[in-house]
Amino acid sequence: MKILSIETSCDETAVSILDINGKATSPKILLLGNALFSQVKIHEKYGGVFPNIAKREHAKNLPPLLLKALDQAGFEKRTGRNQFTKNQIKKVGKILEREYGVAQTLIDLLSNIEKPPIDIIAVTKGPGLEPALWVGINVAIALGVLWNIKVLPINHMEGHIFSVLYKKNEDIKFPVLSLLISGGHTELVYSKSLLSYKILGETRDDAVGEAFDKVARMISLPYPGGPQISRLAERKRKSGYKKSLWGFPRPMIHSKDLDFSFSGLKTAVLYAIKGKKLKKSQKEEIAFEFEEAVTDVLISKTRSALKMFPTRSLIVAGGVIANKHLQKSFNKLIREFNNLKLYVPEKELATDNSVMIGIAAFCKIKTSTKKNLWSKKIKAEGNLRL
Ligand code: KG4
Ligand code: ZN
Repeated sequence: MKILSIETSCDETAVSILDINGKATSPKILLLGNALFSQVKIHEKYGGVFPNIAKREHAKNLPPLLLKALDQAGFEKRTGRNQFTKNQIKKVGKILEREYGVAQTLIDLLSNIEKPPIDIIAVTKGPGLEPALWVGINVAIALGVLWNIKVLPINHMEGHIFSVLYKKNEDIKFPVLSLLISGGHTELVYSKSLLSYKILGETRDDAVGEAFDKVARMISLPYPGGPQISRLAERKRKSGYKKSLWGFPRPMIHSKDLDFSFSGLKTAVLYAIKGKKLKKSQKEEIAFEFEEAVTDVLISKTRSALKMFPTRSLIVAGGVIANKHLQKSFNKLIREFNNLKLYVPEKELATDNSVMIGIAAFCKIKTSTKKNLWSKKIKAEGNLRL
């Protein structure tokens, strides 16, 4: 099955074309095309993502990225004639009327390209920034009209979960415990079977990635802060530093539930550095000690969940698992349990991407018995839950 997938939930604009077959728990995936543009540089100066700027950038970048992905897949065959009817063009204009002239760009780009052999279009419908999500959704619907292809809405967090299936040649065993750690989410999710989700615990305030970003900003590191903090922390770790000079807390580590909280940790950093002009070595200490505090909490809560719920596979996904120290710590954790396997995404699929959206779409199509899988209307849902 060939799936074209689109992701625009935050500040990454991405289009992929996958040739995906086999079982939902161990699909065989060929990545035919993959084009991604990160808006990080644009949002860097504001220290975070501005929804309307993200929207404008998605609208600008989606058509060329689409063309690039089609080209990589070898699907950019020129016909030399306009293949769209007046009715199609009118419909597309209406669907994309609020997306900064993208309708005309799309039609211009695609009007003399053969319909590609794509079976399904998959698009992120939430959670995320609604203005940003709408661009992806409307472009997906427009492509569906132009090429007469069905469009499947996908939950971005489900995408993160399924991101671990890429390049894994084995069947994931259930029950699965997933720890999702990203810029907007921190949650522990239990799945007895494919596509069943029970949220065991989640953050009561900031998401873990958000805490990384905010602490980075406090110590004058650029956005996104996660990779920056992790780079400084690693340098300190390599130097043999083990101290805890700054004494940061491990919020909720002893609470009986599986919820998280990171705003207290963030505030503790803020108070610790108040009025101080930090030296480079102090910034490294803070990065290291903050990363240690976050790791302790994530490991401890996941351990508790693993003790409470019989689990065969632990999935840790979302942008924050790009963090090498966290990966090592989870590798160590699973050795405490018998018959438990750890799944983390490949590096390029840890942060936001469209490949994971295509994989999730395949798994849904293969498994779901729900009639409403193909809803007539697709709506962006900023707070969509699993
Ligand atoms: O999944 P993602 O790309 O976007 C969301 O869905 O939110 O996650 C982005 C988050 C950001 O907060 C970023 O700082 C964090 O992932 N991140 C990291 C690392 N790389 C990205 N956090 C810690 N260590 C990293 N190496
Ligand atoms: Zn994400």
